[in-house]
Amino acid sequence: MKDIIIAPSMLASDFSQVRESLDFVKKNGAQWVHLDVMDGHFVPNMTFGTKFVQDMRPHSDLVFDVHLMVENPEFFVEEFGKTGADYITFHVESCYHIHRLIYRIKELGKKAGISIVPSTPVSSIQEVLGDVDLVLVMTVNPGFGGQKLIPSCIDKISQLAAIRKEKGYNFLISVDGGVGGGNAQELIKKGADVLATGSAFFKDPSWIRKLGQLRR
Ligand code: DX5
Ligand code: ZN
Repeated sequence: MKDIIIAPSMLASDFSQVRESLDFVKKNGAQWVHLDVMDGHFVPNMTFGTKFVQDMRPHSDLVFDVHLMVENPEFFVEEFGKTGADYITFHVESCYHIHRLIYRIKELGKKAGISIVPSTPVSSIQEVLGDVDLVLVMTVNPGFGGQKLIPSCIDKISQLAAIRKEKGYNFLISVDGGVGGGNAQELIKKGADVLATGSAFFKDPSWIRKLGQLRR
């Protein structure tokens, strides 16, 4: 059985206690830290920029999974590349030349991810599925934590898993938005490799342990 990667979203943590939260993430079996960058334009909310990520870096040895919810992501990847981010994921809806940006991220020595919001079909990224390291399927409309997963988005996970198998691609499938103990098994069954989880993790991460038992 494959190993599922848990990527807690710091958005659901108390920003005044970042170091404690990073310890909490590690202690509860997560391998990645999901970092939601919002600009107040692409999404109706703002979070943090490069400095926050950079300041966190010395306090965690987990994989930093940066999720850019910004317009013009090409303006920002260079600077995020310097923060110690491992994965840089941007949205197909926010960028014209996604192939070019994927390779700019890779040139920076980073893993490149592409994300789709609930109203965007898998076909919109079909041409770059052989180029990306990760596909982030958003199962809520981006901008806020604590929303309910939109069930109609789940089918995109199976679609991506089928294309990956057929073409022999290697990207990871990550799911983000309303992910928790109540739906994790179903998402894994559909083909998810990475579970980005905010509220459900920071409220009570005990479901992660149960997931581990089921997996084994
Ligand atoms: C939403 C963010 C998510 C969010 C997930 O726009 O991309 O990563 O933090 O939070 P929950 O798990 O609470 O939906
Ligand atoms: Zn996210």
